[in-house]
Amino acid sequence: MKLAVFIVFLAAAAAQDKLPRPPPLHREQFRVIYEWRTVDFEWESPKDRETFLNTSRYIPQNVLISGINFYKDNIFLTLPRMLDGVPATLAYIPTNQNDTTAPKLKPFPSWSANTMDDCYALQFVQNIEIDRNGMMWILDNGRVGTLTQSPNAKCPPSIVLIDLKTGENKLERYPLPADIVNPSTTYLNDLVVDNRDGDFAYITDNSAVDPGIIVFRLSDKKSWKLRDTKSMSSVPEAAIFRINGTTVNLPVNIDGIAMGPQFLTEDETVDRTVYYCPLASFNMYAINASVLRNESLAVMGEGALRPYVVNLGTKASQTDGMKMDSTGALFFGLIGNSTIAEWNTTVDFRTGQRTIARDPNYIQWVDRFTFDDRGNLYVIVNRLYNFVKNQVSVDEVNYRILRSYTGLKSYIYAEDLMPEKPPQSSAAAPTLAASLLVYALARLFA
Ligand SMILES: *[C@@H]1O[C@H](CO)[C@@H](O)[C@H](O)[C@H]1NC(C)=O
Ligand SMILES: *[C@@H]1O[C@H](CO)[C@@H](O)[C@H](O)[C@H]1NC(C)=O
Ligand SMILES: *[C@@H]1O[C@H](CO)[C@@H](O)[C@H](O)[C@H]1NC(C)=O
Ligand SMILES: *[C@@H]1O[C@H](CO)[C@@H](O)[C@H](O)[C@H]1NC(C)=O
Ligand SMILES: *[C@@H]1O[C@H](CO)[C@@H](O)[C@H](O)[C@H]1NC(C)=O
Ligand SMILES: *[C@@H]1O[C@H](CO)[C@@H](O)[C@H](O)[C@H]1NC(C)=O
Ligand SMILES: *[C@@H]1O[C@H](CO)[C@@H](O)[C@H](O)[C@H]1NC(C)=O
Repeated sequence: MKLAVFIVFLAAAAAQDKLPRPPPLHREQFRVIYEWRTVDFEWESPKDRETFLNTSRYIPQNVLISGINFYKDNIFLTLPRMLDGVPATLAYIPTNQNDTTAPKLKPFPSWSANTMDDCYALQFVQNIEIDRNGMMWILDNGRVGTLTQSPNAKCPPSIVLIDLKTGENKLERYPLPADIVNPSTTYLNDLVVDNRDGDFAYITDNSAVDPGIIVFRLSDKKSWKLRDTKSMSSVPEAAIFRINGTTVNLPVNIDGIAMGPQFLTEDETVDRTVYYCPLASFNMYAINASVLRNESLAVMGEGALRPYVVNLGTKASQTDGMKMDSTGALFFGLIGNSTIAEWNTTVDFRTGQRTIARDPNYIQWVDRFTFDDRGNLYVIVNRLYNFVKNQVSVDEVNYRILRSYTGLKSYIYAEDLMPEKPPQSSAAAPTLAASLLVYALARLFA
């Protein structure tokens, strides 16, 4: 059956204040491309499915689709193991699916790489990113059953990499050191990847007790954690809200993260702006990537980051995931308003937000976004409020993927800027020699 359900399209702004606004955007309306009541898988055999069901290793109403990503002809979906009975935590569907209602998910990279309690396999994946080199960066919390009475932290929180280019889909696991992240409280939520000078991931940790941004540098696998209580913690006035008739109390800390295009600073270095917000907050914050990359700020403790954090202003509602395009347009959900919004970061946040879709029936908790390589924007809508309240009804559609053509690409394809070089001349060689001399002297006096 082909779904041809269209989402109500509104070009009206998020009516918050009376400041002048940019002209309305004309984006293609979102439409539902896939939807599920419950998630099922492509099993190795019908008997496997029955065994998993019989032993409560597959409990259909406990499998939540959370994150989304795209590579070549596949859509990758994350299935965090918040409850028991989630047989795989990372899976995919081919984009050439003819089955538009409830396509079956294939575990990625395999069933065995998703085995519970096997610390070499994936345990709890909330989000992934795929960078421009075809590297998949997977946030594996290790800890499973986070919404149960007894979460199990047997496996360590890790960054897991899969080089998709090779086609071998081998997992490379890098556990995060316990002195940087606490395995029993950390919650690796979302990330952006910065493919510059060694490849960095900036990761939101929405730990209830110690929220922060974890930086992981691929070149030497080093990580550090930066904290700023004021901008990274939930605020009480945004923790309780209503969505589709359900009231939730979710004091969730720093959650969504996005990254802007490269820019040149006054001193001719390249930098990028990183945007983030706690789920339970009405504010959007920004910080420069160069600050996150400065390890010394991590050891300086609380207060070190404060001078570098910019509060961009407020939005109408709570936001979970967000995604930036390669030119600096940010897409984000306004959960309590059943809205998908867009902000062009070249204009002031307070006046530049626009509603691009609003629908109380189809936009029930915007979780994550992704772009494909053809200019389409995809959105996961997952009614998370029903999941956390343990009121998922298997007779209703619970998960949807919406798509809209925007003609845009992900931030990972943002243009590389080159710092201004001094005029080329025969001085190049002596400059190198001089810097080697400085290096030698520095070593001498170290
Ligand atoms: C699952 O349980 C049913 C009912 O107890 C039983 O008949 C069936 O053989 C079981 N299947 C497997 C594969 O264990
Ligand atoms: C979808 O249908 C087309 C045409 O009928 C077919 O060629 C293609 O193989 C199908 N795709 C899948 C994934 O089954
Ligand atoms: C980032 O750095 C640039 C120039 O170095 C500065 O103008 C800008 O305000 C900074 N942005 C943030 C969010 O701090
Ligand atoms: C890193 O931060 C420290 C402390 O604020 C500062 O002294 C140092 O210059 C920064 N380093 C870089 C490379 O920006
Ligand atoms: C948007 O949602 C917030 C709660 O998240 C609510 O307080 C506000 O009234 C909503 N605004 C509109 C226009 O629906
Ligand atoms: C954002 O605004 C800039 C400056 O007006 C414009 O050049 C650019 O096309 C806009 N981007 C989007 C995605 O609308
Ligand atoms: C919640 O959403 C469903 C599906 O769109 C709708 O049928 C139902 O009436 C909504 N409930 C409330 C209380 O708004």
